[in-house]
Amino acid sequence: MVFKLMWGITGTGYVIKESIDLMKDLQDEFGEDIRITVMLSKEGAAVVKWYKQWNYLTETVKKVHIEQTPNIPFFAGALQIGNYDIFICCPVSANSVAKIVYGIADTLITNCVAQAIKGGVTAYIFPSDQDFEPITTTKPNGEPLVLKIRDIEIENINKLKKLEGIYVIKDFSDINKLILDKIKDKSQNP
Ligand SMILES: Cc1cc2nc3c(=O)[nH]c(=O)nc-3n(C[C@H](O)[C@H](O)[C@H](O)COP(=O)(O)O)c2cc1C
Repeated sequence: MVFKLMWGITGTGYVIKESIDLMKDLQDEFGEDIRITVMLSKEGAAVVKWYKQWNYLTETVKKVHIEQTPNIPFFAGALQIGNYDIFICCPVSANSVAKIVYGIADTLITNCVAQAIKGGVTAYIFPSDQDFEPITTTKPNGEPLVLKIRDIEIENINKLKKLEGIYVIKDFSDINKLILDKIKDKSQNP
């Protein structure tokens, strides 16, 4: 059994390293039994590079693809027909959340979310800006950076939670269990 995970990354600095760490842990644990594909929005790629995590990402995951257009690379189709066992987007920028909430599908990730849901596939989304409390992220030099979350971002997260086909992940630490549960499901019902 090979478990196929599609992981979308958008342009936000929150939990990027933690996301790659998790991918690495999963690959260390499951080896050839897990196949991870990472797709990044254009800004996702820029931010991963900004945080100096590009080499870590590409050394960890073999299949890493950057958005050229909303349909290139054409993952929307593969997602829609259920070629992946789970579709996670983490972290998701306020920009992409706003687009998804208003039905805009003009970037690789927002398009994949829209098309996956149309095909009956759940999109698991971890928005970076989802608490009333300011979030602490990291400057490129490693120092902490505290960012206020605007009302519009909270409003959009609340709308996102009500959208069909979307599961909003509250805590980053929930992602590991979510994936492990899906792997267990697949191994019991291949
Ligand atoms: C270094 C860096 C960090 C960023 N961090 C965030 C963030 O924490 N949250 C956010 O919503 N946007 C953040 N942005 C802004 C987004 O990248 C920008 O809104 C972009 O348009 C998002 O495009 P995408 O949603 O297609 O990836 C950051 C940008 C840079 C350059």
